[in-house]
Amino acid sequence: MTTPLHLTAEPLLSVNNLTHLYAPGKGFCDVSFNLYPGEVLGIVGESGSGKTTLLQSISARLAPQQGSVIYNNGQAAAQSLYDMAESDRRRLLRTDWGVVHQHPMDGLRRQVSAGGNIGERLMAVGERHYGDIRQKASQWLEDVEIPVSRIDDLPTTFSGGMQQRLQIARNLVTHPRLVFMDEPTGGLDVSVQARLLDLLRTLVVEMQLAVVIVTHDLGVARLLAHRLLVMKQGQVVESGLTDRVLDDPHHPYTQLLVSSVLS
Ligand SMILES: Nc1ncnc2c1ncn2[C@@H]1O[C@H](COP(=O)(O)OP(=O)(O)O)[C@@H](O)[C@H]1O
Ligand SMILES: [Mg+2]
Repeated sequence: MTTPLHLTAEPLLSVNNLTHLYAPGKGFCDVSFNLYPGEVLGIVGESGSGKTTLLQSISARLAPQQGSVIYNNGQAAAQSLYDMAESDRRRLLRTDWGVVHQHPMDGLRRQVSAGGNIGERLMAVGERHYGDIRQKASQWLEDVEIPVSRIDDLPTTFSGGMQQRLQIARNLVTHPRLVFMDEPTGGLDVSVQARLLDLLRTLVVEMQLAVVIVTHDLGVARLLAHRLLVMKQGQVVESGLTDRVLDDPHHPYTQLLVSSVLS
């Protein structure tokens, strides 16, 4: 994906020397990066390397043991996430940000219809008009290829792929500034995945949406991410522009990762 134009802007998120270890080697250690508006950062690495734990810490859901995460929405003064009141962190997650969980039902309300799952987010940002909410929910169902006839059904009656797409619609409908995604394309069939990636690319460009995406799929990383962090046993072993990292990997682990996909 082409480099966004706004690299001169203030970072939306600054992650500084962040560490959270459940036990030695389990979690992540000393991670730093900046994320800018309209930028997609990919996090890749083998299972157990700490990707999900890192995503939780940078998205205000798991207080790190060391380091800081600063969020700058461009309106108020930049704030350190874990110095904020818990209620302010929760509000951020309901309004400015989206989180797409690895297991779709973790990110959906099971007692609420598909339309309600989307509508709830719109109400959290102040939309009150029932007709508008239903119309936007229908449009988003269409965008993520869920039949609008299923709008009143519970997500528990959906296939895993449909739940995942509903979760994505729920998180994007309010045009957040920043979305965290943990393996969002796992369980989707290839053609649906390709169209969903197209939709995400469009949103990134048109809405200056910033995305942090964890994926084990280097094809997804190449299509979507401007920059990559490569993780191994809780450490970032390599980072850089996506094409550079994938075409000219410097670290032996990245070389192995890239070659194991190619072979
Ligand atoms: N809540 C937890 N308590 C203890 N250990 C955990 C917890 N969550 C994850 N871990 C361990 O931390 C390591 C990193 O896990 P995780 O962040 O889920 O990795 P990844 O997403 O890269 O597969 C793993 O060894 C995992 O078993
Ligand atoms: Mg994980």
